[in-house]
Amino acid sequence: MVRTDSPREARRLGAKRVLVVTDPVLLQAGLIDEVHAPLSLEGVLVEIFSEGEPEPSLRAAEKCIETARRVRPDALLGLGGGSNMDLAKITATVLAHGGGPRDYVGDDKVPGPIFPLICVPTTAGTGSEVSAASVLTDSDNHMKVGVLSNWLRPHAAVVDPLLTVSCPPKVTADSGIDALTHAIEAYTAVDNETFPLPHGERTVYQGRHPMGDLLAERAIALVGRHLRRAVAHGSDLEAREGMALGATLAGMAFSNVGVAAVHALEYPVGGAVHCSHGAGNGLLLPAVMCFNLPARLPQFAAIARLLGEDVMGLTEQQTAERAVTAVERLRDDIGVPRRLRDLGVTEGQLRPFAEKAFGIRRILRVNPRPVTADDLEGIYRAAF
Ligand SMILES: NC(=O)c1ccc[n+]([C@@H]2O[C@H](COP(=O)([O-])OP(=O)(O)OC[C@H]3O[C@@H](n4cnc5c(N)ncnc54)[C@H](O)[C@@H]3O)[C@@H](O)[C@H]2O)c1
Ligand SMILES: [Fe+2]
Repeated sequence: MVRTDSPREARRLGAKRVLVVTDPVLLQAGLIDEVHAPLSLEGVLVEIFSEGEPEPSLRAAEKCIETARRVRPDALLGLGGGSNMDLAKITATVLAHGGGPRDYVGDDKVPGPIFPLICVPTTAGTGSEVSAASVLTDSDNHMKVGVLSNWLRPHAAVVDPLLTVSCPPKVTADSGIDALTHAIEAYTAVDNETFPLPHGERTVYQGRHPMGDLLAERAIALVGRHLRRAVAHGSDLEAREGMALGATLAGMAFSNVGVAAVHALEYPVGGAVHCSHGAGNGLLLPAVMCFNLPARLPQFAAIARLLGEDVMGLTEQQTAERAVTAVERLRDDIGVPRRLRDLGVTEGQLRPFAEKAFGIRRILRVNPRPVTADDLEGIYRAAF
């Protein structure tokens, strides 16, 4: 869909008053006008919450909910990167079902449809516009926490690459490698047939299946072809378009299949050192790929080919290893940090991080190789 579709989607949802959830950066960049003007022209009253923040805290979510209760909109519109869209998603959840944001943290805790919600991404990365998750920062516990439910998928997603042109190189790089992480984790996930879901538990993640593979393959190829260009030349519209499509496809892949050890390992790091989610993921991705390689040789070999590696004459093992070096090169070329210590992590934090990450079962069970807390510590050490 294109930008001008926001009013049509608002009308379809019966909305006469829309609360746009955004942040001061986007307000200043004038991006708010891109949805404000077309909505106003259609006679929709636009209210604005502009106190969104990167990697939003539960406190920010509470503020947004307070505003929404005061303004009484009949639809929400999340405008921004994953951070603002996730704020809009948790707000839509609480407006529909009461309580507070913490009540919905975890898997499948949302009891039914959420408040009408349109998401308009301005980064090419998280796929939150199609995903079943809202990720928030629990500042008390220095940890990222997730609300996971199929009810969280927005009613409409308006994906327009032009809205990403103003992303500075760092935001483009970090969010872009997050999209690659989503696609690679989905493509190499545990198989759907052997998904280790304990009896009686429910989850939105299903493990690897053919539809997820198709989406992830296309996303990996698109990111491989376009991310360097989008970072180096922000106004390269072909690259922006490729990344917007790649990120949304990756969102559709991971939100059905699941994300795995990279995301579990990133949550304690992001919660403690406040790096961006994408930078943390991009940094950890090659180390997790190395760990998972023996369990997913053909898939990693396919990833090397999708990333355009010349693998003529190589064995399958060598081809699969090329996937890791290709991702390392991409990460270096776009300026995502290489080592945890570059983010300010200390060696003494590695064991506590590993224990925290080990507690995130809903994600770790998607990993193709079972992991112990020692394995997780080993991966952190490899990336330290
Ligand atoms: N819900 C999900 O499925 C899901 C998936 C992955 C990540 N996430 C979460 O999403 C968040 C990260 O989102 P993100 O990577 O999109 O970044 P972001 O939303 O945190 O944005 C980063 C910065 O870039 C600015 N920005 C965004 N778009 C811009 C534009 N077009 N022009 C100029 N500046 C712009 C923002 O104002 C912000 O300051 C994290 O909290 C992460 O945990 C959610
Ligand atoms: Fe992510």
